[in-house]
Amino acid sequence: MEFEARLEAYRQRVDEVMLRHLPTRSAGCTRLKDAMHYAITNGGKRVRPVLVYATGEAIGAKTACMDMAAGAVEMLHAYSLVHDDLPAMDDDDLRRGKPTCHKQFDEATAILAGDALQALAFTLLSHPSPHYDAQTQIRLIRTLGDASGAAGMAEGQAIDLEAVGRQLSLAELENMHRHKTGALIRASVLMGAIAAGETDETLLNKLDSYAAAIGLSFQIVDDVLDITGDTEILGKPQGSDIARDKPTYPALLGLDGAKRHAMKMHEQALAHLQDLPSSFDILRDLSAYIIERSH
Ligand code: IPE
Ligand code: IPE
Ligand code: MG
Ligand code: MG
Ligand code: MG
Repeated sequence: MEFEARLEAYRQRVDEVMLRHLPTRSAGCTRLKDAMHYAITNGGKRVRPVLVYATGEAIGAKTACMDMAAGAVEMLHAYSLVHDDLPAMDDDDLRRGKPTCHKQFDEATAILAGDALQALAFTLLSHPSPHYDAQTQIRLIRTLGDASGAAGMAEGQAIDLEAVGRQLSLAELENMHRHKTGALIRASVLMGAIAAGETDETLLNKLDSYAAAIGLSFQIVDDVLDITGDTEILGKPQGSDIARDKPTYPALLGLDGAKRHAMKMHEQALAHLQDLPSSFDILRDLSAYIIERSH
């Protein structure tokens, strides 16, 4: 299948998985459930679930083995975006071309919808599965927990907020990006491999190094697009980082420097996959897609 068609198939598949597990509106507080649906069904590239599926299939697993991991990682990501946009954080009004969750509903509902999506991600991973054993399930749960908590995304977001208005060194900036965005991208690749039943440490280490490199290039390109992108295409406000004096790669290295750095990360990502067979070409293409994207 062509690269774009495969991406689209993965996107549709994870959307179905998530819709199957989102709470129905029939019981309890419909506002909370509406906000959860809104945060999940408002578009998005689905890069993380695509990485889960692509990695698992490259290893040779059936697509269905990765469904829960793919759904969980996207729910976790959706929650992180809802909270990232809150007035106490980036205070943004537009996400995926629509009003942010707290604008569409209200702040308290957005906080709760994020909380509930985070919890639901872990519920998904703990569903009994015909595809793997309980030990594998615990590894999936731990991988996502580590990547999203105080050793991962939440830590990166805390560094991001503390760094506003301060000049970070390149090492500090890289550390922030590796946490706030890189951690969940690494988890996506690793969860794809774990769900596929992969236990070979050498392969897992190569995939982890690949994922760390694309995790960094992903956020560098996000920073670049904040400057060079178009609000209409981005679906989020262009210039938001500069307006809030955010620490970013272009702020430190300049636009060309940041783009060169993203390219360097892409080359590193490819180097980590060097000895792997053609079934891993999809991961090579995804690394290129991440640095070439326009939104
Ligand atoms: C945006 O993530 C936030 C970052 C971590 C850079 P995405 O660019 O993956 O956003 P969606 O899911 O496609 O909207
Ligand atoms: C967000 O980084 C990273 C998250 C963990 C959500 P940004 O604040 O740069 O993401 P955007 O640009 O708002 O999507
Ligand atoms: Mg932010
Ligand atoms: Mg933001
Ligand atoms: Mg950004």
